[in-house]
Amino acid sequence: MNKNTDRVVLAYSGGLDTSVAIGWIAEQTGREVVTVSVDVGQGGEDLDVIRQRALDCGAVEAYIADARDEFATDYCMPALKANALYEGAYPLVSALSRPVIAKHLVRAAREFGASTVAHGCTGKGNDQVRFEVAITSMAPDMDCLSPVRDLALTRDVAIEYAEKHSLPIETTKHNPFSIDQNAWGRAVETGFLEDLWNAPTKDVYTYTDDPTYPPLPDEVIITFKEGLPVAIDGAAVTPLQAIQELNRRGGAQGIGRIDMVEDRLVGIKSREIYEAPGAVILIEAHRALEAVTLERLQRRYKRQIEQTWGELVYEAQWYSPLKRSLDAFIEDTQHYVSGDIRMVLHGGRATVNGRRSESGLYDFNLATYDSGDTFDQSSSRGFIEIYGMQPKLAAARAERLGEGEGF
Ligand code: ARG
Repeated sequence: MNKNTDRVVLAYSGGLDTSVAIGWIAEQTGREVVTVSVDVGQGGEDLDVIRQRALDCGAVEAYIADARDEFATDYCMPALKANALYEGAYPLVSALSRPVIAKHLVRAAREFGASTVAHGCTGKGNDQVRFEVAITSMAPDMDCLSPVRDLALTRDVAIEYAEKHSLPIETTKHNPFSIDQNAWGRAVETGFLEDLWNAPTKDVYTYTDDPTYPPLPDEVIITFKEGLPVAIDGAAVTPLQAIQELNRRGGAQGIGRIDMVEDRLVGIKSREIYEAPGAVILIEAHRALEAVTLERLQRRYKRQIEQTWGELVYEAQWYSPLKRSLDAFIEDTQHYVSGDIRMVLHGGRATVNGRRSESGLYDFNLATYDSGDTFDQSSSRGFIEIYGMQPKLAAARAERLGEGEGF
């Protein structure tokens, strides 16, 4: 077999497990390993440092991609337009990053002649499903491999392997948590958080400061154009800049901390702590603008679509036909979602206190109780007459049949 068409592409974070996986996969499968590291705004180590480590650990090629803007624009912004919160609370931080990482994995697999894509996820979580379903949705010919799940690469084995082969990676630093972070937010699990009664300690958080001791209130004006944030306090921003700035300002006020028990796709209930200040602020603001600009029935129906959209994305269906169809619906609703939302960020909350839109459906003269009222109140009489017709008929029937409630 031609070695060059039989390589394995590995999603590489630079951490212990995936560093060991490079050599482990090569040994177990007899194939060359190409690593792929994608910047989705997770911060931390420089990608060039990570790239060099991959090569030092035995990768034949190490591909890196700065996908921060792509992630913000093509993955986070659709989630914002969908006001996406899984089980009413989780802004889909990890669920959104997997499809963009998968896209770069597939791209690298094509470029470097690989027929298998590997990742560092365990066999218990959602992310294995998201990576593999995303990969085969884009490239039905690809094979997927999880060294932890499929090649018995446990934590202890990894530490032993790294020490034996003197890999350039720390094996002693014990992080009590499993953390996944990107521009949209941060997810923390395991360790003492697995006892649902244990409150998170201070060291769990890095994107947010303690909301109990907030600095002075911070007022922010977010300008939206067709559902997208385009300016903050009058200064033009890209989607990535909008998220970053609101992460910073919201984080300082302790906004966007979420402590929840969620239902994983694989059936397990798990406890996770999230921090997503920018996402929470943007969704709150976007919803407030939709309240002004969307027609009532469209808005009501969109709420159902939003819930399904969030579930699909959580459940690994980013590249699925239904998700695409729902995107088209959501996109259509955003045409008039333009205007300004003013919020006060303080003490862990983002509170909307002003809205302004040229494309809204709010009509001051219809709404006002002062002079200038253009609403013809006399027409409400006939409206109520017809609107209440069937409940009235039902009540009359009940009385006729002696089944009335006796009011
Ligand atoms: N539970 C979240 C999800 O399935 C986050 C998964 C990754 N979390 C982590 N702490 N490593 O989307």
